[in-house]
Amino acid sequence: MAKVICVTNQKGGVGKTTTAVNMGYYLAKDKYKTLLIDFDPQGNATSGLGVDKNDDSLGLTMTDVINENSPLADVIRSTKYKNLDLAPTTPELANAEVELVNQPRKFTRLRDAIRLVEENYDYIIIDLPPSLSLLTVNGMIASNYLLLPVQTEFYALEGVAQLLESMKLVMKQANPGLKLLGVLATMYDKRTSLSAQVYAEIKKYFKNLTFKTTIPRNVRVAEAPSHGVPVGDYDKFSKGAKAYKSFTREVEGRTK
Ligand SMILES: Nc1ncnc2c1ncn2[C@@H]1O[C@H](COP(=O)(O)OP(=O)(O)OP(=O)(O)O)[C@@H](O)[C@H]1O
Ligand SMILES: [Mg+2]
Repeated sequence: MAKVICVTNQKGGVGKTTTAVNMGYYLAKDKYKTLLIDFDPQGNATSGLGVDKNDDSLGLTMTDVINENSPLADVIRSTKYKNLDLAPTTPELANAEVELVNQPRKFTRLRDAIRLVEENYDYIIIDLPPSLSLLTVNGMIASNYLLLPVQTEFYALEGVAQLLESMKLVMKQANPGLKLLGVLATMYDKRTSLSAQVYAEIKKYFKNLTFKTTIPRNVRVAEAPSHGVPVGDYDKFSKGAKAYKSFTREVEGRTK
């Protein structure tokens, strides 16, 4: 059965999507059948894999899954990478979320949709929006693991306590098996002492749940999405690519 991992932090711009896309890429490269579900109306994971979220002929998307117009299987498409599939989204998912509020089974739509495809995959990664919203709760309920990227900057841990509270609530009410996979320090800048300080703070709080690999602030990582490819494809020798590869190996080890 697939291991389902949601990537979440209600803080914006901390590297959730970058992590979801690159972890998906390296898991697939390691021959794991992987599905990346874009569950953020911003659609950055979709465009990060070269799919145009504003193309009218895009076809079915996660909005159709949440509306229960189509099964997830019909939304999934292959990518140019072997073993890596994508369930794309568009900004319309934001409207679907609003409509979902008054509908039955509003918390478990994603989980129920995933159940029908999970036997086809080793890993399913869900990229979530920067909010503790209904979409995020759906993501947490659908997952075995929660992955928390934290940007190594001032205020990094602000909001994390609230996120862990939400996680606890989800565990109590709906998904007792949900585990914290770990905390990933992103955009680490070794030229500043701030990054080191924040990393130390993360380690103090999360202990061995902190991933050993840190993701450096790296211009190749930032450039890759504008070419619609993961950094491992854009420049596999870059520091960012190497870090995501080594981080993915840690994920594989922790989910054995
Ligand atoms: N290691 C890195 N080095 C340099 N730039 C990075 C790195 N990681 C992410 N970025 C850039 O920082 C920005 C935010 O990253 P990303 O979109 O992954 O964050 P996010 O948490 O998914 O954001 P949102 O909360 O809006 O969904 C993007 O422009 C991305 O390209
Ligand atoms: Mg994102």
